[in-house]
Amino acid sequence: MMNKKIHFHFLPVLCMLLSVVSVKVSFAQNGDNGKNRTESVQLIPIETAHSATVFEVGKDNRLHMVYLGSKLPENKEYNQIIGQYRQGTDYSEVSDVVYPASGSQNLFEPAISVRHADGNQSLDLKFVSVQTKQMDKDIKLTEIILKDEVYPFEVHLFYKTYFATDVVETWADIMHEEKGSVRMDKFASAGLYLRGSKFWLTHYHGDWAKEMRPEQTLITHGIKTLDSKLGSRADLFQPPVFMIALGQKAREDAGKVIYGSLEWSGNFRVDLELDNLNNLRVIPGINNYASSFDLPKDSLFTTAKFLYTFSDRGQGQASRQLQRWARDNKILDGNGQRLTLLNNWESTYFDFNEDKLRSLLKDTKSLGVDLFLLDDGWFGNSYPRNNDHAGLGDWQANRKKLPNGIASLVKEATNMGVKFGIWLEPEMVNPKSDLYHQHPDWVLKQAKRPEYYFRNQLVLDLTNPAVQDFIFRIVDTLFTQNPGLAYIKWDCNAVIYNAYSLHESQQGRLYIDYVQGLYNVLKRIRAKYPKIPMMLCSGGGGRVDYGALQYFTEFWPSDNTDPLERIYMQWEYSYFYPAIATANHVTNWGKQPLKYRVDVAMMGKMGFDIPVHDLSAPDLNFCQASVVNYNKIKDIIWHGDQYRLQSPWTNDVASLMYVDRDKMHGVIFNYLVNARYGSGSHTPIKWKGLDPNRKYRIREINLYPGTTSTLKGDDVLSGDFLMTIGYNPKVDASRSSVILVADAVQS
Ligand code: GLA
Repeated sequence: MMNKKIHFHFLPVLCMLLSVVSVKVSFAQNGDNGKNRTESVQLIPIETAHSATVFEVGKDNRLHMVYLGSKLPENKEYNQIIGQYRQGTDYSEVSDVVYPASGSQNLFEPAISVRHADGNQSLDLKFVSVQTKQMDKDIKLTEIILKDEVYPFEVHLFYKTYFATDVVETWADIMHEEKGSVRMDKFASAGLYLRGSKFWLTHYHGDWAKEMRPEQTLITHGIKTLDSKLGSRADLFQPPVFMIALGQKAREDAGKVIYGSLEWSGNFRVDLELDNLNNLRVIPGINNYASSFDLPKDSLFTTAKFLYTFSDRGQGQASRQLQRWARDNKILDGNGQRLTLLNNWESTYFDFNEDKLRSLLKDTKSLGVDLFLLDDGWFGNSYPRNNDHAGLGDWQANRKKLPNGIASLVKEATNMGVKFGIWLEPEMVNPKSDLYHQHPDWVLKQAKRPEYYFRNQLVLDLTNPAVQDFIFRIVDTLFTQNPGLAYIKWDCNAVIYNAYSLHESQQGRLYIDYVQGLYNVLKRIRAKYPKIPMMLCSGGGGRVDYGALQYFTEFWPSDNTDPLERIYMQWEYSYFYPAIATANHVTNWGKQPLKYRVDVAMMGKMGFDIPVHDLSAPDLNFCQASVVNYNKIKDIIWHGDQYRLQSPWTNDVASLMYVDRDKMHGVIFNYLVNARYGSGSHTPIKWKGLDPNRKYRIREINLYPGTTSTLKGDDVLSGDFLMTIGYNPKVDASRSSVILVADAVQS
């Protein structure tokens, strides 16, 4: 699927605009300043299977937002909604305008702010036309054209609906025909206006090894802004995902909730403003922080996409919608297969040579996983990458560690029947590198200020096409020289400090063009290597968003692989991202037994990052058997529907399950998360998503060698029983993690 991103077209815009008009409403002659707009001229409902976003063109010719919620059976009744709410005073007549601009009658946070070519700062967008195109059975695109009456300035709003999964993607094209450039000070993707009584916001904060910590707050009057200014990625302290529960706090299986996320891998900003009428304005977009720029005449600026989904059946339903949408429409190869792997990072760090890697290839084979992933430390000669102070940028195999290059290892792996993958951090440079000395102008930094490092490195200037080309060639050369190479872990361990590009004529474009430059490279890579699996990594979960995931098959949620921590993190990630894309590795972090660590890694895309040769014989046997077990259930985890059963935040035992689409098979994960005396599952846990009329045989899998299940082993129970009474996995301190499988019994 083609995705339009930020770009500048130098096209004659006007003729393009006029050709798409299907419905035209002429501007009010004298203008009524927005008063008396209760009578709508035209209603524009944007519907999915269960939800509707409804706009109306008021008598003032502005586009107002009427509603976002459950689809009503009587389409024409959307007309009646606004009348049921308290009407505002004169100054709030424009407060529900869909894409509010600044400098005219809007008194609230704008979606767009500009300075026209003549220096004037006022913009007032009026409706021109709407057009709808059915793209395929599921996808519909609505384009609404708005135009200023005084200046030749236009905004086209797009709403792409995914009918079955109730997801909407929205973005804006901004263009003008003024006599010079227009300065863009704010350029959000969209504006939502939600009417209601109370709004509960769930958002996330974190840091390295502390990703996805949720907070839920009642939104109070004023503006709450979620944002990031890291430049090279969206998240480290705050991810670009959030949810808004309407009326009351978010609940798993009931209540109205909207999930939102910006598809953008850099600075983002979401303003949530509760106004004088107690309604909520949501304005998501690329962050305008240090990003004012001039838009030349006849050019087009396309904002990032904002996606949202509404559910009136709680968070669980919303997340299943989003997960399915992501697999069907966004994540690269979202419905395909994934490779289990052995990574060497935590078993060797930078300290390895060819012999050590050969023995790790044997370990990969003996473990039974699909691929060996060679991590950081394999490159750099003038400045060998023996620690994180040197070598980034010099992507040639280190001759001392790997005298026969990567090629001989790839060959050896192939001969052994395992695949080979490699770590890259191609956007970065260590000052101790040949690259830094050869191309000082390729580095983002302030020439007059001392260099300031994040993990001893600087960020390359991806706004520069020469740098984009360099990065593409790193990847292309690796694949050309090693056709057997099967996987890339793409890391990004630094933020942009001292933002300045020698290549940019307008520094205000740097943060935007950086991300666009990255996407250009990724597009080129995907054009040549459409299916090679790539992991999106950033010293942990700093870099997952749906802008990037269209080029990646999976992401690294956190360097923190302590399984107890991971239960909470993976739980929170699962609201927004499907298990097939969530890479979980078994490591030596944490105090839990090996079985617990493996079981936690299984509820996503499993890998290992442990010294296999140090494992005792029973531990190795267990890991080998786990891989076999995982291969039997991975399809359900990767492609099925996920149900969160019992939250780790409020229970001794966290529990979640996956059910395949035919409701024939389920996998249920249960983990003890409370170490206090007597903690465990003392009552049955209600399962979800099964067919009430089918019977299921329940068995425990992935037992540690020499242990037996305390469950009967031959329970056959109806879906109805399992969902209304539940099933007790008998989790306690002596069996702190339990995986159950439910298979429908053929009648
Ligand atoms: C980041 C990644 C780790 C590892 C190191 C290598 O921190 O998250 O998994 O690849 O880089 O330097």
